This record gives sequence, C-alpha cells and structure tokens, in this order.
Amino acid sequence: MIGNIILLGPPGSGKGTQAKLLAERLKIPHISTGDILRAAKGTELGDRAAEYMNRGELVPDTVLIAMIEDRLSQQDCAAGCILDGYPRTIPQADALSEILTELNREIKTVLDIEVPDDRLITRLSARRVCACGATYQLTFNPPQLEGVCDLCGGALYQRDDDTEESVRNRLLVYKRETQPLIDYYRSQGLLVAIDGSGGITEIADEIYRAVS
Ligand code: AP5
Ligand code: MG
Repeated sequence: MIGNIILLGPPGSGKGTQAKLLAERLKIPHISTGDILRAAKGTELGDRAAEYMNRGELVPDTVLIAMIEDRLSQQDCAAGCILDGYPRTIPQADALSEILTELNREIKTVLDIEVPDDRLITRLSARRVCACGATYQLTFNPPQLEGVCDLCGGALYQRDDDTEESVRNRLLVYKRETQPLIDYYRSQGLLVAIDGSGGITEIADEIYRAVS
C-alpha cells in the first residue's frame, strides 16, 4: 500500500507536472479533477462545468464529491493515488475523509506546493497543452518544435481558463476557498510544504523524498 497523496497549490504551481512524474515513479494513478472535467467536454456535465471553469470559479462541491467518490472506488486506486486539484474546499475535504474511511483507506501526505504569485502568472500565460495530456511552458519547458507536442506530434493549444482575467480570479478563489485547507491538514499532522519555485526535476526529487 503506497497511500493517498494530495497535492495542494495555487494555479500554475506545478501540481499537474509533479503529479504526473510522481505517479510514474510510484506506479499509482494520477487523478486530476480539472482533467476529468475538461475531458467531459461535449457532455451535459462537461459543458456546465466549463461555464464555471472559464470564469475561474469552482465547480459546485456536490458535483466534485460524487466524481471523486466514483473514481476512488475504482480498482486501480486500491494501493493509493495522487490527488491533483481535489480537495479545494473544506466540505470537499470532509467528504474525502468519509469516502476514504468507508473504503478503509487514509491520507498519507498532503504536499503544499508554494510559488509566489508573480511567477504563477508568468507560467500560466505561456503554458501550452496537448490533447494527449502533455504540458509545456514556452520559456522554461518548451517543445522542441514550436506548436507541436514532442510526445505525439499533436498541435499545442492554450487552455480556455489561461486568460489573464481567469487566472487572476483563480488565484483569488484559491486564496479564499482552498488555502484554509493548509491549516486543516497541518492540524492533522499531514502537511509538508514544498518550495515549488525551482526547477522541475529538483522539485520532483524533493517531493519524492517527502513521500518515501
Ligand atoms: P485545474 O485544472 O486543477 O487547474 P488549477 O488548479 O488552476 O491548476 P493548473 O492546472 O492551472 O496548474 P498546475 O498547478 O497543475 O500547474 P502545471 O503543472 O500545469 O482546475 C481547473 C478548473 O477546474 C478550476 O478552476 C475549477 O473550475 C475546476 N475544478 C477542478 N477541480 C475542482 C474541485 N476540486 N472543485 C471545484 N472545481 C474544480 O504548471 C503550470 C505551467 O508551469 C506549465 O506550463 C508547466 O510546464 C510550468 N511549470 C511547472 N513546473 C514548473 C517549474 N518548476 N518551473 C517553471 N515552469 C514550471
Ligand atoms: Mg493542473
């Protein structure tokens, strides 16, 4: 049993980048609620969620709680998983505790990836993504060929919520709704702070040490 690892951190802090690397190292699933919602595009749920996401608002708790309960019940999560972007509110965190208790599992560690605001905005304004899940940053982590994914050759594009207005709102919403989870998990003795302002590999090694 590897256990369940939560990645907290503001938009652009590197949750997705680090969760992917850690999932490969630990061989457990990477569950990104943002990715699940984006993949639902074209369905009623996905299109309703996109209205909140494009404004940088949170999708209602009831939707997310049902989604995470369903995902954690799947067999591939039995040895643990990496939660990227869930929980984001106190009610979501309370629901997660109940779901894990029901499944006879627990939270192993909560990693809080800390990055100054000005750096977050720089990172997100130059993020490019591919439909295959790869993520690039035009300055720090560019693709070999402009506009083309190194992994699958697909066309890179900008996420709908990476507009300056949406990014600024996502940061405000993070501070209001999600930052209280830092004290919530610190009081449970589960929190480890990670300096997310260095290089991707260096941070990945620090995270790996924190969960080993
Ligand atoms: P989500 O998709 O989770 O977005 P987010 O939290 O805003 O975070 P991002 O994905 O933008 O950033 P990240 O921390 O993953 O950083 P990344 O690794 O990409 O959620 C989107 C929306 O869905 C929410 O706003 C909400 O509407 C909804 N939602 C999702 N979950 C929800 C929930 N639980 N409840 C309610 N609503 C929910 O890195 C960013 C960039 O920086 C990339 O370009 C990357 O290449 C680069 N980078 C990464 N690390 C470094 C580094 N060390 N140095 C330099 N560049 C770096
Ligand atoms: Mg992400």
